[in-house]
Amino acid sequence: MSDLLSAAPEGPILVCGGAGYIGSHCVAALQRCGVEVVVLDDLSSGHREAITAPLVEADLKDRGAIRAALDAHAPRAVIHFAAKCYVGESVTDPAKYYLENVHATWNLLEEMRAAGVRDIVFSSSCATYGEPREIPIPDGHPQDPINPYGRTKLHMEHMMSDYSHAYGLRYAALRYFNAAGASLDGSIGEDHEPETHLIPLVLQVALGRREKIKIFGDDYDTRDGTCIRDYIHVIDLADAHLRALKHLQLDRGNLRCHLGTGTGFTVKEIIDAAREITGHPIPAEIVPRREGDPAKLVSGGSRAKDVLGWVPRRGDVRDVIGDAWGFLSKNPDGYRSQ
Ligand code: UFG
Repeated sequence: MSDLLSAAPEGPILVCGGAGYIGSHCVAALQRCGVEVVVLDDLSSGHREAITAPLVEADLKDRGAIRAALDAHAPRAVIHFAAKCYVGESVTDPAKYYLENVHATWNLLEEMRAAGVRDIVFSSSCATYGEPREIPIPDGHPQDPINPYGRTKLHMEHMMSDYSHAYGLRYAALRYFNAAGASLDGSIGEDHEPETHLIPLVLQVALGRREKIKIFGDDYDTRDGTCIRDYIHVIDLADAHLRALKHLQLDRGNLRCHLGTGTGFTVKEIIDAAREITGHPIPAEIVPRREGDPAKLVSGGSRAKDVLGWVPRRGDVRDVIGDAWGFLSKNPDGYRSQ
């Protein structure tokens, strides 16, 4: 089964949000397999420099633009990364998240339905679980998000499930843990504005772009008091999307699964690893907890392995940080350096 699933999916594929961090690595993986790709991205957080595929610069709030892209490129499937993804902002401005995530996805599903495109691979999140009742989190863990970002991702999953039941949509909801890392050649990587994620921020200190890293709380119930996360390499995420799409195209059923390594690292452990890799002392300061941070998020279960034959190939956190460092040291100002 896994041999068939590692074969390339059939294109052309429309990749919504394909100029973003995870999307651009997926686009590169598809192109490496010889699959025709078209990216639809409004470039609100994506980067034109991150892709070599044709770009439709458009917004999923614009149904006419989605229709035109589907008409022009006749994709066999959609991979949908486009979303707003800041937990804190979703708390203060939920309207933006319901519009940009839920409403935009409804637009996309409606236009796919009208055009007869029935396969979609969707970026979901472990944020749909909320405060986990069990660590590591099993694939079938109840979903009870604690912030609007997680709730919008869950609404999007529910929408796809209902469309599947009623209209025959085939979907894969891939629930990522903490995406990190960059391409092995350092040509594409993580470049958010503002940057809020731990690994790029830590590496920006090593680059001399920031004075120190602030550790959000050291009084959690964990081995060193700082939060534990499961950092999954963006290249492994990309590989899982190709397999999930192939799985749908082989008509093997809808899929909801985790993408994580199963191993958690504390914030302090990440900083220590980054010190080793960069040779920089990376000053750190303990500050109060950040609102909405669960103490531990670690992937459990083996559905992605069992169903897709997927296992992380670059699961060692030192590789994850080393590859992120490769991108940042080549591009200290992100894509503005290119
Ligand atoms: N952290 C710090 N200092 C920083 C930044 C982060 O201590 O300057 C800590 C956070 O408190 C957290 C850990 O580092 O404990 C990781 O934080 P990130 O912001 O890198 O990632 P999150 O776990 O908050 O977020 C990730 C994804 C989100 C997703 C969320 C699910 O990036 O998109 O997981 O909980 F919603």
